[in-house]
Amino acid sequence: MNDIEICKLIADDIEDIIEISVLSFPIAWVKEAFDNELENNLARYVVAKIDKKTIGYGGMWIILDECHITNIAIHPDYRQLGAASLILKSLINIGKSEGCSAMTLEVRKSNFAAQKLYKKFGFVEEGLRKKYYADNKEDAVIMWKRNFDDILSSDTFSSN
Ligand SMILES: CC(C)(COP(=O)(O)OP(=O)(O)OC[C@H]1O[C@@H](n2cnc3c(N)ncnc32)[C@H](O)[C@@H]1OP(=O)(O)O)[C@@H](O)C(=O)NCCC(=O)NCCS
Repeated sequence: MNDIEICKLIADDIEDIIEISVLSFPIAWVKEAFDNELENNLARYVVAKIDKKTIGYGGMWIILDECHITNIAIHPDYRQLGAASLILKSLINIGKSEGCSAMTLEVRKSNFAAQKLYKKFGFVEEGLRKKYYADNKEDAVIMWKRNFDDILSSDTFSSN
């Protein structure tokens, strides 16, 4: 398989990332939600591509000096190839380049794969939001990464 490229999200990617969202989450985002993110000054989104095909995406909001991850998802056929890791590195570097010093997210208590991904990048659990998810009332684990020094800034984009 060819290399994974990380690019900024553009409007042409939205159809593909809706499909990935539907395949990845019990409550998927609709087109309007992604369209709004393209217009949102706080939002930063990237996509992962293999041979020009969009296979994953990730995004965050920059609020003051903190990055809040909204979504990271990889198409089921392309998981465990390192795509989410490249997306996360890219988002951390965007945050770093914009003066942020911390990143946070919520993840389902049962989502061990995602928690392993985040722990690999130095995120630690700092609390729970009880019954956070509307579909099954599952708790969310709140994770934070409070130091970006371990992430090399060469990892932001492989192409634009
Ligand atoms: C979680 C998710 C984004 C991981 O994407 P991915 O591209 O497969 O992740 P990577 O290949 O970059 O893996 C990075 C690390 O995550 C962990 N990981 C990923 N998938 C895993 C799995 N199925 N089981 C256990 N650990 C897993 C491993 O620690 C892995 O590091 P390693 O390969 O050195 O062991 C993907 O499974 C997904 O899209 N899931 C559905 C959506 C979701 O849960 N998003 C997160 C919401 S907070």
